[in-house]
Amino acid sequence: MRTIAHLSDLHFGTEDLGLEEALLQDLAAVQPSVVVVSGDLTQRARRSEFAAARAFLHRLPAPRVVVPGNHDIPLLDVFRRFLSPLARYHEFIDPEADPFFHDEEIALQGINTARSSTWKDGRISEAQIIALRARLCALPEGRFKVMVTHHPFAPPARDPAPPMVGRGLRALEAAADCGVELLLAGHLHEGYTADVRTTHVSLQRSMIVVQAGTAISRRRRGEPNAYNLITVDPPRLHLQVKAWTGRAFEPAAATEYRKEGPEWRRQS
Ligand SMILES: [Fe+2]
Ligand SMILES: [Fe+2]
Repeated sequence: MRTIAHLSDLHFGTEDLGLEEALLQDLAAVQPSVVVVSGDLTQRARRSEFAAARAFLHRLPAPRVVVPGNHDIPLLDVFRRFLSPLARYHEFIDPEADPFFHDEEIALQGINTARSSTWKDGRISEAQIIALRARLCALPEGRFKVMVTHHPFAPPARDPAPPMVGRGLRALEAAADCGVELLLAGHLHEGYTADVRTTHVSLQRSMIVVQAGTAISRRRRGEPNAYNLITVDPPRLHLQVKAWTGRAFEPAAATEYRKEGPEWRRQS
Protein backbone atom coordinates (compact mmCIF):
# COMPACT_ATOMS: atom_id res chain seq x y z
CA MET A 1 0.00 0.00 0.00
CA ARG A 2 1.17 3.53 -0.78
CA THR A 3 -0.26 6.94 -0.01
CA ILE A 4 0.20 9.89 -2.36
CA ALA A 5 -0.36 13.46 -1.18
CA HIS A 6 -1.29 15.32 -4.37
CA LEU A 7 -0.81 19.11 -4.14
CA SER A 8 -1.17 21.54 -7.00
CA ASP A 9 -1.14 25.20 -8.00
CA LEU A 10 0.61 26.60 -4.95
CA HIS A 11 1.11 29.94 -6.76
CA PHE A 12 3.57 31.47 -4.32
CA GLY A 13 3.08 35.21 -4.58
CA THR A 14 -0.66 34.72 -4.06
CA GLU A 15 -0.55 32.27 -1.16
CA ASP A 16 -3.16 32.69 1.54
CA LEU A 17 -1.62 33.49 4.89
CA GLY A 18 -1.69 30.65 7.36
CA LEU A 19 -2.51 27.91 4.86
CA GLU A 20 1.12 27.08 4.16
CA GLU A 21 1.80 26.22 7.81
CA ALA A 22 -1.52 24.41 8.19
CA LEU A 23 -0.80 22.27 5.14
CA LEU A 24 2.70 21.42 6.34
CA GLN A 25 1.29 20.40 9.71
CA ASP A 26 -1.35 18.24 8.08
CA LEU A 27 1.18 16.50 5.84
CA ALA A 28 3.50 15.91 8.77
CA ALA A 29 0.63 14.14 10.52
CA VAL A 30 -0.45 12.17 7.41
CA GLN A 31 3.09 10.95 6.57
CA PRO A 32 2.41 10.14 2.88
CA SER A 33 4.64 7.70 1.00
CA VAL A 34 5.28 10.34 -1.67
CA VAL A 35 4.26 13.97 -2.25
CA VAL A 36 3.29 15.15 -5.75
CA VAL A 37 3.16 18.82 -6.72
CA SER A 38 1.52 19.15 -10.14
CA GLY A 39 2.80 22.56 -11.20
CA ASP A 40 2.21 26.31 -10.92
CA LEU A 41 4.50 26.71 -7.94
CA THR A 42 4.64 30.47 -8.55
CA GLN A 43 2.36 33.21 -9.80
CA ARG A 44 4.72 35.11 -12.13
CA ALA A 45 7.94 33.06 -12.09
CA ARG A 46 9.68 35.71 -9.94
CA ARG A 47 12.83 34.86 -8.02
CA SER A 48 11.18 35.74 -4.70
CA GLU A 49 8.25 33.43 -5.50
CA PHE A 50 10.56 30.56 -6.47
CA ALA A 51 12.58 31.10 -3.27
CA ALA A 52 9.36 30.83 -1.21
CA ALA A 53 8.31 27.71 -3.16
CA ARG A 54 11.71 26.11 -2.61
CA ALA A 55 11.58 26.78 1.13
CA PHE A 56 8.11 25.19 1.24
CA LEU A 57 9.18 22.12 -0.75
CA HIS A 58 12.14 21.56 1.52
CA ARG A 59 9.77 21.31 4.47
CA LEU A 60 7.56 18.69 2.78
CA PRO A 61 8.01 15.01 3.53
CA ALA A 62 10.16 13.19 0.93
CA PRO A 63 10.20 11.71 -1.64
CA ARG A 64 8.65 14.39 -3.85
CA VAL A 65 7.66 14.46 -7.52
CA VAL A 66 7.32 18.05 -8.74
CA VAL A 67 6.60 19.31 -12.27
CA PRO A 68 6.46 22.90 -13.59
CA GLY A 69 3.27 24.68 -14.61
CA ASN A 70 2.64 27.46 -17.11
CA HIS A 71 2.96 30.08 -14.36
CA ASP A 72 6.51 28.85 -13.71
CA ILE A 73 7.46 30.19 -17.15
CA PRO A 74 7.64 34.00 -17.48
CA LEU A 75 4.64 35.40 -19.37
CA LEU A 76 5.40 39.06 -19.94
CA ASP A 77 9.20 38.96 -20.02
CA VAL A 78 9.34 37.72 -23.61
CA PHE A 79 13.13 37.52 -23.69
CA ARG A 80 13.29 35.06 -20.80
CA ARG A 81 10.03 33.38 -21.79
CA PHE A 82 11.45 32.15 -25.08
CA LEU A 83 15.19 31.94 -24.45
CA SER A 84 15.31 30.43 -20.97
CA PRO A 85 11.74 29.58 -19.94
CA LEU A 86 12.58 27.17 -17.11
CA ALA A 87 15.90 28.68 -15.99
CA ARG A 88 14.55 29.85 -12.65
CA TYR A 89 12.60 26.63 -12.14
CA HIS A 90 15.80 24.65 -12.66
CA GLU A 91 17.78 26.99 -10.43
CA PHE A 92 15.38 27.01 -7.49
CA ILE A 93 13.27 23.85 -7.73
CA ASP A 94 14.82 21.01 -9.72
CA PRO A 95 17.30 20.63 -12.59
CA GLU A 96 14.97 17.88 -13.86
CA ALA A 97 11.58 18.92 -15.33
CA ASP A 98 10.45 15.32 -15.99
CA PRO A 99 11.19 13.71 -12.61
CA PHE A 100 10.87 9.99 -12.00
CA PHE A 101 10.44 8.15 -8.73
CA HIS A 102 9.88 4.49 -8.14
CA ASP A 103 10.10 1.95 -5.37
CA GLU A 104 9.06 -1.70 -5.23
CA GLU A 105 5.33 -0.87 -5.33
CA ILE A 106 4.83 2.39 -7.16
CA ALA A 107 6.34 4.42 -10.01
CA LEU A 108 5.59 8.06 -10.81
CA GLN A 109 6.68 9.76 -14.01
CA GLY A 110 6.45 13.55 -14.12
CA ILE A 111 6.07 15.19 -17.54
CA ASN A 112 6.65 18.90 -18.04
CA THR A 113 3.78 20.25 -20.16
CA ALA A 114 4.57 23.97 -19.72
CA ARG A 115 5.67 25.71 -22.92
CA SER A 116 6.64 29.23 -23.97
CA SER A 117 4.62 29.08 -27.17
CA THR A 118 1.34 27.67 -25.87
CA TRP A 119 1.72 29.30 -22.47
CA LYS A 120 -1.76 28.46 -21.25
CA ASP A 121 -2.59 25.06 -22.74
CA GLY A 122 0.62 23.05 -22.63
CA ARG A 123 2.28 20.47 -24.84
CA ILE A 124 4.24 17.23 -24.70
CA SER A 125 7.16 16.55 -27.06
CA GLU A 126 7.99 13.46 -29.10
CA ALA A 127 11.16 13.05 -27.02
CA GLN A 128 9.13 13.05 -23.81
CA ILE A 129 6.80 10.37 -25.20
CA ILE A 130 9.77 8.21 -26.21
CA ALA A 131 11.31 8.65 -22.74
CA LEU A 132 7.98 7.86 -21.08
CA ARG A 133 7.74 4.58 -22.98
CA ALA A 134 11.35 3.67 -22.24
CA ARG A 135 10.94 4.27 -18.51
CA LEU A 136 7.49 2.97 -17.74
CA CYS A 137 7.30 0.02 -20.16
CA ALA A 138 10.61 -1.29 -18.78
CA LEU A 139 9.39 -1.56 -15.19
CA PRO A 140 8.63 -5.00 -13.79
CA GLU A 141 5.04 -6.23 -13.53
CA GLY A 142 3.15 -5.22 -10.46
CA ARG A 143 4.29 -1.62 -10.12
CA PHE A 144 1.41 0.82 -9.82
CA LYS A 145 2.22 3.44 -12.47
CA VAL A 146 1.31 7.10 -12.26
CA MET A 147 1.79 9.96 -14.72
CA VAL A 148 2.02 13.50 -13.32
CA THR A 149 1.48 16.62 -15.44
CA HIS A 150 0.37 20.18 -14.84
CA HIS A 151 -2.19 20.35 -17.65
CA PRO A 152 -5.17 18.00 -17.43
CA PHE A 153 -6.04 15.21 -19.86
CA ALA A 154 -9.76 15.22 -19.08
CA PRO A 155 -11.97 18.23 -18.40
CA PRO A 156 -14.50 18.71 -15.64
CA ALA A 157 -17.96 17.41 -16.54
CA ARG A 158 -19.34 20.93 -17.07
CA ASP A 159 -16.81 21.80 -19.81
CA PRO A 160 -17.95 20.66 -23.28
CA ALA A 161 -14.92 21.80 -25.32
CA PRO A 162 -11.79 22.00 -23.21
CA PRO A 163 -8.35 22.86 -24.56
CA MET A 164 -6.21 19.75 -25.01
CA VAL A 165 -2.53 19.35 -24.22
CA GLY A 166 -0.59 19.24 -27.51
CA ARG A 167 0.19 15.56 -28.33
CA GLY A 168 -1.89 14.68 -25.29
CA LEU A 169 -3.58 11.71 -26.92
CA ARG A 170 -0.23 10.33 -28.10
CA ALA A 171 1.09 10.58 -24.56
CA LEU A 172 -2.01 8.86 -23.22
CA GLU A 173 -1.61 6.04 -25.73
CA ALA A 174 1.97 5.55 -24.56
CA ALA A 175 0.83 5.63 -20.94
CA ALA A 176 -1.87 3.07 -21.69
CA ASP A 177 0.60 0.78 -23.51
CA CYS A 178 2.91 0.89 -20.50
CA GLY A 179 0.19 0.16 -17.93
CA VAL A 180 -0.33 3.55 -16.31
CA GLU A 181 -3.29 3.45 -13.91
CA LEU A 182 -3.49 7.01 -12.58
CA LEU A 183 -3.12 10.51 -14.06
CA LEU A 184 -2.50 13.40 -11.65
CA ALA A 185 -2.76 17.03 -12.74
CA GLY A 186 -3.95 20.50 -11.79
CA HIS A 187 -4.08 23.85 -13.64
CA LEU A 188 -7.86 24.37 -13.44
CA HIS A 189 -7.95 24.96 -9.67
CA GLU A 190 -10.82 22.52 -9.53
CA GLY A 191 -10.82 19.08 -7.96
CA TYR A 192 -12.56 16.19 -9.72
CA THR A 193 -12.05 12.61 -10.80
CA ALA A 194 -13.08 10.55 -13.84
CA ASP A 195 -12.04 7.70 -16.09
CA VAL A 196 -9.89 9.20 -18.86
CA ARG A 197 -11.92 7.25 -21.45
CA THR A 198 -14.94 9.41 -20.69
CA THR A 199 -13.05 11.99 -22.77
CA HIS A 200 -10.74 9.81 -24.88
CA VAL A 201 -12.97 6.97 -25.97
CA SER A 202 -10.37 5.45 -28.31
CA LEU A 203 -7.98 4.55 -25.50
CA GLN A 204 -7.49 0.85 -24.88
CA ARG A 205 -7.02 1.18 -21.15
CA SER A 206 -9.00 2.48 -18.22
CA MET A 207 -7.01 5.15 -16.33
CA ILE A 208 -8.17 7.24 -13.39
CA VAL A 209 -7.92 11.01 -13.72
CA VAL A 210 -7.46 12.86 -10.44
CA GLN A 211 -7.39 16.65 -10.50
CA ALA A 212 -6.40 18.77 -7.52
CA GLY A 213 -7.64 22.24 -6.63
CA THR A 214 -5.26 24.94 -5.49
CA ALA A 215 -3.65 23.97 -2.20
CA ILE A 216 -2.80 27.37 -0.73
CA SER A 217 -3.40 30.13 -3.30
CA ARG A 218 -6.05 32.85 -3.13
CA ARG A 219 -6.68 32.12 -6.83
CA ARG A 220 -9.65 29.93 -5.90
CA ARG A 221 -12.31 29.21 -8.50
CA GLY A 222 -15.45 28.57 -6.51
CA GLU A 223 -14.13 25.91 -4.18
CA PRO A 224 -12.02 25.90 -1.02
CA ASN A 225 -8.30 25.30 -0.98
CA ALA A 226 -7.67 21.58 -0.97
CA TYR A 227 -5.32 18.73 -1.69
CA ASN A 228 -5.82 15.04 -2.49
CA LEU A 229 -4.79 12.12 -0.36
CA ILE A 230 -4.73 8.99 -2.51
CA THR A 231 -4.38 5.50 -1.05
CA VAL A 232 -3.16 2.95 -3.59
CA ASP A 233 -3.95 -0.56 -2.45
CA PRO A 234 -4.56 -2.57 -5.64
CA PRO A 235 -7.14 -3.49 -6.77
CA ARG A 236 -8.50 -0.57 -4.73
CA LEU A 237 -7.77 3.13 -4.96
CA HIS A 238 -9.21 5.57 -2.44
CA LEU A 239 -9.27 9.32 -3.07
CA GLN A 240 -9.81 11.57 -0.09
CA VAL A 241 -10.03 15.30 -0.72
CA LYS A 242 -8.79 17.31 2.24
CA ALA A 243 -10.24 20.81 2.12
CA TRP A 244 -9.52 23.94 4.13
CA THR A 245 -12.38 24.69 6.53
CA GLY A 246 -10.99 27.93 7.95
CA ARG A 247 -9.20 26.10 10.76
CA ALA A 248 -7.61 23.01 9.22
CA PHE A 249 -7.43 20.75 6.17
CA GLU A 250 -10.21 18.29 6.91
CA PRO A 251 -11.71 15.31 5.03
CA ALA A 252 -14.19 16.38 2.35
CA ALA A 253 -15.34 14.35 -0.70
CA ALA A 254 -14.15 10.76 -0.92
CA THR A 255 -14.18 8.42 -3.92
CA GLU A 256 -13.43 4.73 -4.05
CA TYR A 257 -12.36 2.91 -7.19
CA ARG A 258 -11.91 -0.81 -7.67
CA LYS A 259 -10.24 -2.48 -10.61
CA GLU A 260 -12.34 -5.29 -12.03
CA GLY A 261 -10.50 -7.02 -14.86
CA PRO A 262 -9.17 -4.23 -17.08
CA GLU A 263 -11.66 -1.64 -15.80
CA TRP A 264 -11.50 0.84 -12.96
CA ARG A 265 -15.01 0.98 -11.54
CA ARG A 266 -16.15 3.75 -9.28
CA GLN A 267 -17.67 2.33 -6.08
CA SER A 268 -18.73 5.58 -4.42
FE1 LIG B 1 -2.65 27.46 -11.56
FE1 LIG C 1 -1.65 26.49 -14.77
